[in-house]
Amino acid sequence: MSVTSTASSSRELRAGGGLSGTVRVPGDKSISHRALLFGAIAEGVTTIEGLLPAEDPMSTAACLRAMGATISPIHAGQIVRVEGVGLDGLQEPQDVLDCGNSGTTIRLMLGLLAASKGRHFVLSGDASLRRRPMNRVGQPLTMMGAKIKGRSNGDFAPLAVSGQKLRGGVIGTPVASAQVKSALLLAALTADGATTVIEPAHSRDHSERMLRAFGADLEVGGEMGRHIRVSPGQKLYGQNIVVPGDISSAAFWLVAGVLVPGAELVVENVGLNPTRTGILEVLQQMEARVEVLNRHEVAGEPVGDLRVRQGPLKPFSINGDIIPRLVDEVPILAVAACFCDGESKITDASELRVKETDRLAVMTRQLTAMGADIDEHADGLTIRGGRTLRGTDLDSETDHRVAMSLAVAALLAEGDSRLTGSEAAAVSYPNFWDDLERLHR
Ligand code: S3P
Repeated sequence: MSVTSTASSSRELRAGGGLSGTVRVPGDKSISHRALLFGAIAEGVTTIEGLLPAEDPMSTAACLRAMGATISPIHAGQIVRVEGVGLDGLQEPQDVLDCGNSGTTIRLMLGLLAASKGRHFVLSGDASLRRRPMNRVGQPLTMMGAKIKGRSNGDFAPLAVSGQKLRGGVIGTPVASAQVKSALLLAALTADGATTVIEPAHSRDHSERMLRAFGADLEVGGEMGRHIRVSPGQKLYGQNIVVPGDISSAAFWLVAGVLVPGAELVVENVGLNPTRTGILEVLQQMEARVEVLNRHEVAGEPVGDLRVRQGPLKPFSINGDIIPRLVDEVPILAVAACFCDGESKITDASELRVKETDRLAVMTRQLTAMGADIDEHADGLTIRGGRTLRGTDLDSETDHRVAMSLAVAALLAEGDSRLTGSEAAAVSYPNFWDDLERLHR
């Protein structure tokens, strides 16, 4: 056994050993949220195959059920059925909508509910979510006529939303965030007049693809698809969605596979939407041995299998427009940088500070405890790789991606580690520890 759970929150991580085999990562988290949400406001039935059966999408499903949508139980490997209530059919819930740990749930829901005229909603979540900034969604929605109140001038949940008839317009988003963009697109579906959303850089475009498939009148234009125009008045119709594997979950195996001595892994059925594949470009920059096999398209999203083998790695440097295309992979890339000879640099990544945790600070703290040589900057990290990391007491600090990144670092350390808060992985990858145990030899 490579991984032993000794308490609900603390886990022994054995260093050393090989890594080989085939793994199928669970469904894409971003696409799973959208399939549930869009299905709930469509006419008729939506079926979802490969939905991520993890805590975050469960939060979205629970909120939608509380407002009248019928969603079948969510179990791994089972098709989920959503009976939509129509574009304006969500009812006022009896209680606070609990978005758990999920930024995507609360932010997309804000766009939808702000436009639900005559109904009142309160949205909240766990301690991490209640610390995350919401004005990035609330302010542009307010320009459309939304009424949202919360702590710190509406920046922090609990948020009270008094649904209104909104007005369309041209709206620039303050950050390249797919959560902000998607909230505005949802609000635009029932607004008075057309809405154009303009992003500072192109973020993941799953909402654009899926809203169109559901029948929305949505045009993408401008440089790199940064201008999205929605004309209201079109109903959405239930669809059969197939969710590809999450490249953000695959990323842990990709990095482990290129680092662990002698490793060879195949990660099957990974979503390869170009707005998400920044990690593959970085691995290419590192001259890592990664091959894309069996490239094809499933339900409007590109998909393929990824084969990785261990080999020597060059340091990397990332900044600018690639950051939104790998924003969730920065923690695992920080781990990768520790094992390349030379200095790697991550800049323009201040968004990492407002994720489930301040991921720049947390990764610096945890990897420094293992002996890594890292400088933390306001908007990134400089990591000098090549030092031996030592196994030690680690802490996910409640963050799922930190937990899984540290698990990979621990495999490569000298001496075993103990990880507190390992259960956080269930937010996006409930079987992560089982998969690790199976692949680790
Ligand atoms: C997500 C967008 C990203 C990402 C998050 C999921 C989404 O956040 O970090 O895990 O599903 O739209 P931002 O859009 O705020 O960067």
